This record gives sequence, C-alpha cells and structure tokens, in this order.
Amino acid sequence: MKILLINGSPKGERSNTLKLSNAFIDGIRENYDESTYSSPLIVERIDVKTLNIMPCLGCFACWKNTPGKCCIKDDMQNVLEKILWADLVIWSFPLYYFSLPGKLKTLIDRQLPLNLPFMDRDPEGGGHPSRYDMAGKKTVLISTCGFYTAKGNYDSVIAQFDRMCGKGYQSIFCAQGELFRVDELKKRTDEYLDLVKVAGREFLSGGISKSTLNKLEEPLYPKDVFERMADTSWGVDEKGEKMDETLIFTKQMANLYNPSSYTGKDIVLEMDYTDVNRRYFILLTKSGSKVLEDFDGNVTTTVHTPYSVWLDIATNKIDGPTALFKRMYTVDGDFSLMMNWDKFFDGNTAVDKSDANFDNTPYGDSNLSDNFSTKTAKTIGNVFENNALDEKTSNTTSAKNNAKKTNMLCLLLGWMIFWIAPSIDLKWGSFLSVFTCCLIPLLFSNYKLIFYDKLSLALVGALSVSLLLGAPIIYIMPLSYFIFGIIWTVSAFFKIPLTAHYSLNNYGGDKALLNPLFVRTNRILTIAWGVLYLLTPIWSYFIMLSSASSFLGLINSALPIFMGIFTVWFQKWYPSKFAKG
Ligand SMILES: Cc1cc2nc3c(=O)[nH]c(=O)nc-3n(C[C@H](O)[C@H](O)[C@H](O)COP(=O)(O)O)c2cc1C
Repeated sequence: MKILLINGSPKGERSNTLKLSNAFIDGIRENYDESTYSSPLIVERIDVKTLNIMPCLGCFACWKNTPGKCCIKDDMQNVLEKILWADLVIWSFPLYYFSLPGKLKTLIDRQLPLNLPFMDRDPEGGGHPSRYDMAGKKTVLISTCGFYTAKGNYDSVIAQFDRMCGKGYQSIFCAQGELFRVDELKKRTDEYLDLVKVAGREFLSGGISKSTLNKLEEPLYPKDVFERMADTSWGVDEKGEKMDETLIFTKQMANLYNPSSYTGKDIVLEMDYTDVNRRYFILLTKSGSKVLEDFDGNVTTTVHTPYSVWLDIATNKIDGPTALFKRMYTVDGDFSLMMNWDKFFDGNTAVDKSDANFDNTPYGDSNLSDNFSTKTAKTIGNVFENNALDEKTSNTTSAKNNAKKTNMLCLLLGWMIFWIAPSIDLKWGSFLSVFTCCLIPLLFSNYKLIFYDKLSLALVGALSVSLLLGAPIIYIMPLSYFIFGIIWTVSAFFKIPLTAHYSLNNYGGDKALLNPLFVRTNRILTIAWGVLYLLTPIWSYFIMLSSASSFLGLINSALPIFMGIFTVWFQKWYPSKFAKG
C-alpha cells in the first residue's frame, strides 16, 4: 500500500495536525500485513511549505495545448505524479479562515491536469471527469482548528472535498488544535492521538467506526476551561503586556479551580517559588478563583517549591507525589488542600468571574484563564493521587476488578468472631467461627477478596477446627494473635504493605500504590498493627489464666477499633508532617 501524506501546514514539521496524521499512519502500520496486501507499506510525505508551487494561470493549456501537462515548470509535476502513485492520499492541514491554507489551495488548483475538460453529467451541478483511473484510490482528510469545537467550522472544506472526491472519503476534524503543542497537556492530547491511531487501524480494516468518529469529535477540554487556557496561553495580561512566567503558571493553576469543591470556607493558597524569589496567592472562593500578588490575611496553605520543580512536574519529568517524597518541595499549613487537590483543581467547572471580592486585584477578570493542564495541576498537587499513572493502572487492572473495592472487614471479621466466640463457648463459638469464614465470601461478594483476606479465612477456619478437635484454647488463642501479628509484620516488608490494600479505596484506588508517600504511610501503619498483635499473645495468655478469660475476645477486639481510629488519624497526620519537611 502506498500512502501519500500531503502536509499542508505552513508550519511544516511543527504542525499540530501532522501529529494526528502521523498517529493515523502509525495505526495503519500497526495492523498492516504485507502478505494480505502483497506489497510493503510505503509512506511518502510532501511538505507543501517547502515546495515551489506557482498559482494556476487559468490558461487551460493542460486541457487543450499539452493535455495532462501544465505549462508552469515547478514542483507541481512531481506532486501530481505522487498523487497518481498513491493508493491513499492523506490531506493534512490546519483550518485557515474556515478553509484551507492558501498554498494548499494553490496545490489543489494545480491538479487541473488530472482532469479532462468535459462536463460531468453530475446531477448535483457539475465537475470534470478524471483523466486517470482513480478507482480504488482513497482519500482521508485530517485537520486541526483553533476553536473550541470543529462543528460548523469545516462546512466549506466539507463542501469542497465532497465535490472533489465524492462522498467516499473519511475525515478527522479536531478542535483545540493548538493544545497539541503544549507539553503539559501531553497526557490528554496523547489520549486523542491514541484514538486517531485506532482510527488508522480501523481505516485499514474497512473504515473508521462510527463510535471512534464520535469519540474523535469530543472536545479535548470543556469549553470554558479551553477558552480560558487558550486566552492566556499567549502570556500577556489584558493590556497586552507580557506577564512573568511564574505568574502565568500560577494563573494557569487557578484557572482549573472547580468552585463546586468549595467547602464553605475561602482558601488562600500561597505559591512560593523559592528559586526565583516570587510568591503569589490563589484565592479559592465559592464563586471562583483569583490570583493576587499581595495578600495580607491568613494563608491556608503554602507550597514552597523551586519553579524549576513545578516545570519538571508539568512536563512529566517527575510526578508531584514523588517530588514531595524526595523533599523537592515542602508544604506549610492546612494539608487537606493537597490531599484533595483533584477535587479543587479538576478543571471541569466554569469559573464564575463575577466575584465582587476580586475587584481590586491587579488582574482583571477577563484574564482569569491559563494554558495550564488539568493533568499538570493534578500531578503537582495531590500527594495521594498519582494521576500521571492513571492510564498505566487502568491498563493493568481489569475493569471488573476496578469496579470492586477491598474491604478490611473481609480480613478482620473472621478473626474477631474467633477471638470472641470460642472464649465464651468453646464448641458453639468455634462452630460460629467456621461458619463465619464460610459466610464472608458470600456476605462480601460485592467486594474484592485479596490474598490476605483469603489467607485469614483459611487460618481462622483451621484454628477453629483445631479447637473443635480438642486443641487447648489457652495455647490456640495466643497463637492466633501471634499469627495475625506475623501476617501484618511480614507484609510490611513487601512492596505493598497490608493496610495499603484497603486504604487505597479512599485515595484514588490502585493508582495510590504508585505514590511513595502513601506506601510509606501505610508501611508504618502496618508495622504498628503487626507489633501490636505480636505483643497481644503475652497479655492474652495471662488474661486467660485469670477470671476474666471469657472477656479476652472482647478486650482484644477493642484493639482493632482503636487501631482503626489511629489509622485514619495517622493517614492524614503523617503526610502533612512529612510535607512540612
Ligand atoms: C491565518 C490563520 C487562520 C485561522 N483560521 C482558523 C479558523 O477559521 N477556525 C479555527 O478554528 N482555527 C483557525 N486557525 C487556527 C488553526 O487552525 C490552528 O491553530 C491549527 O491547529 C494549526 O494547525 P497546524 O499546527 O497543523 O498548522 C487559524 C490560524 C491561522 C494562523
């Protein structure tokens, strides 16, 4: 198969659209089987920008004097040969004034030698038949445009190509095209490029599917977020004066604030760029966000960060949680903002620009926008949610497993019944314990049973049966605590400590496991649980020798409750303490 890619962007190699076209060809390449097509895949690209193509003279010499040959001697002859050579022509171009860039239009005009002069008896109004056999040749249009949506923008392009190629061509029109050049937005734009790749694959197997075309039509970002990003991506304030880079960056972040995350209290986030000695304040209120250069009141949270670190995070060189873990930045004040960063800065809700509180700020409301990426803000901020790794996680975890959450009760319930019931009544208590182990998988069928849950069920079952078979409870009970403690302690030395499997539910799911601070917090907690239960057999043994022996289970079952409360507290306290440096 021979593909001719006509890159009509005056930006040549730097074209946004070219990224899409390359992805489309990659998709074709991935599925291309030489034996099916009995020829290799050959791709040739012409950059219109570099060609010497003169405008058509309108002399019709190519029809009457030298049929099929243009009288102008320039690069166009070569282009026509390439068009005739190709099985598939991909027209790759930006939308300019709701149409094609001028030089590409010139190239199209100069295709006249490919047509015969006669009138096509086309019921829709005319055209000229092709001089050559074009049957079997295919056409694809790939284009980006600058506005929020492609809808309506391409009407004249579509009308033109409908007449030029008939209705048999396929097209990908992508709005918000300038975002493809923004490194910080790579995650989102790469998602789109992956989709274009899918389109390429599908095209090879018969045509781009309706569902892929529908997805390709979805805007990269919601309208207001995109427009705010686009407006300030130019880096100038409302007077057209150049803004400081760190200020743009801060405004970019503020831009993504979602007012629906408002907790009832205004927040002041201080951004202290330590290496360039600049600081700004982001006000987050019920109705929107605003960046201030000075602020006299109480600051809620201060992030001390070299600007270079923000940039590294923004360009994916490092993710926010890892940077925090490596102490590349510190956080003072209320840490809950960092913990809930995604909720505050999800970039999905329009900012109400009418907040009267903002009237006296140095930058007007019209300048509330930034070219900052949702992903950047997310990755920088949330110490417990590593969004850069979303994709990786979703690829590695089945959809079904993702839907099910873990539940620590699957682990604890069996042990708790075992510790309480047999101490009260040996026989029936042991039976109840075995019964509970059998029941747990059914009771918790909506949850994911992990290795530690299954191991616990097996161990509790075995210990209960041993009691029924006459093993002395005075040894079995302390042994059970010891085994429990061993499981926790040993798990602390594995990559994922035991508590992490459960607490990840509150921190964005499996992706939390890729966050080093989350894992460390849980490792400490797991060791604490482990040590507690390694010590429990000691007092348990003595309680069992005393008159309070039948209360042993109740006494020891209070421990998980206290430890649970401690766990919840520690999960908040430790990252905050760590972040203070
Ligand atoms: C002269 C000019 C005219 C443009 N006209 C439009 C337009 O009518 N509609 C639109 O949505 N974008 C318009 N744009 C934006 C481009 O289509 C957009 O930036 C595109 O992504 C550039 O693609 P490229 O990098 O492949 O050249 C225009 C850009 C320029 C420079």
